[in-house]
Amino acid sequence: MTIQNHRIAVIPGDGIGTEVLPPAQQVLDAVGRRHGIGFSYTSFDWSCERYLREGAMMPEDGLDRLRETDAILLGAVGYPGVPDHISLWGLLIPIRRTFRQYVNLRPIRVFEGVASPLRAAVAGEVDLVVVRENVEGEYSEIGGRLNQGTPEELAVQEAVFTRAGVTRIVDYAFSLAARRRGKLTSATKSNGIIHTMPFWDELVAELAAAHPGVTWDQEHIDALAAKFVLDPARFDVVVASNLFGDILSDLAAAVAGSIGIAPSASLNPERTFPSMFEPVHGSAPDIAGQGIANPLGAIGSAALMLDHLGHPEAARDVDNAIADVLAKSDVRTRDLGGTATTDEFTEKLLELL
Ligand code: NAI
Ligand code: MG
Repeated sequence: MTIQNHRIAVIPGDGIGTEVLPPAQQVLDAVGRRHGIGFSYTSFDWSCERYLREGAMMPEDGLDRLRETDAILLGAVGYPGVPDHISLWGLLIPIRRTFRQYVNLRPIRVFEGVASPLRAAVAGEVDLVVVRENVEGEYSEIGGRLNQGTPEELAVQEAVFTRAGVTRIVDYAFSLAARRRGKLTSATKSNGIIHTMPFWDELVAELAAAHPGVTWDQEHIDALAAKFVLDPARFDVVVASNLFGDILSDLAAAVAGSIGIAPSASLNPERTFPSMFEPVHGSAPDIAGQGIANPLGAIGSAALMLDHLGHPEAARDVDNAIADVLAKSDVRTRDLGGTATTDEFTEKLLELL
């Protein structure tokens, strides 16, 4: 068997980030042995804890060191005492933007064996992907504050939507829908946000003409949030701006039963730069250090990485093992109502894999 080797940067980060990545690597190694795929990992201790020690989330040449790798696996960053905008703007956003990871993919499924908080969310029926714009939109550096601490204080934050940026994310979403069930929903708010959102809507309509095989509609974000709760099975691919996609995908993860099982990928579709794979959840300081975090979000992110690196069969094996451990065993971490540790849960999944 020929071995294809991939160089993977591993950034565990803080809290449970450091507890869920080793299981993901164990799963990658196991599935890699079967499919003739090798991984050489380089670990980086970039984190809020490093920030407290050395004054920066990552070293100055950090991005250059990542640039040489094929993909990045990230746990989570965030540590009590370090403001969240430091961890975000000191590590995640520079990686996403420098490496033009403009697609944030967040697939959500309701699994058999995991109780959704919603009666309307039935296993096998809810299977959707939120495609979130990942490098522009509402999360911009443009703006500022004046007259701080005075009664006249004000803050201005500008959203940035470019024709190129909207076109490429919406085009990606239409193409993904064409490979799935052929349905696309665009999240908008063109009734309230009267410049950027009508522009978004126009570009969606233009691209729809280029993808005649996909049926599409658009919903205002507030109504869309309600429909995620009332009838999540109706959605296939949902495309959204940076902020709307961020909120919708956490909501969708909750619909699926636990934020601990939701995976994500930040993709550079052109493959000019490495893409990044990370669970949707954060560093969970409330349970960090106890060895009880659910590793499925990280393991599912590893499956997305396998798919991106050109190994769809290996990715499917991992996805099946995730579904199996939930449907065919009663081993569960605490977030899913069980008592298993991260290691015991991973052990069971490896057995089924
Ligand atoms: P969080 O996702 O860390 O935790 C929310 C709740 O879900 C907590 O009760 C936690 O125990 C639980 N939870 C999350 N993941 C779990 C898992 N795998 N297994 C079991 N339970 C799990 O979100 P929170 O509390 O808002 O943020 C904590 C820190 O994480 C903050 O510093 C935040 O900035 C950071 N964060 C980092 C992200 C990243 O690195 N991409 C994403 C989201 C938050
Ligand atoms: Mg979020």
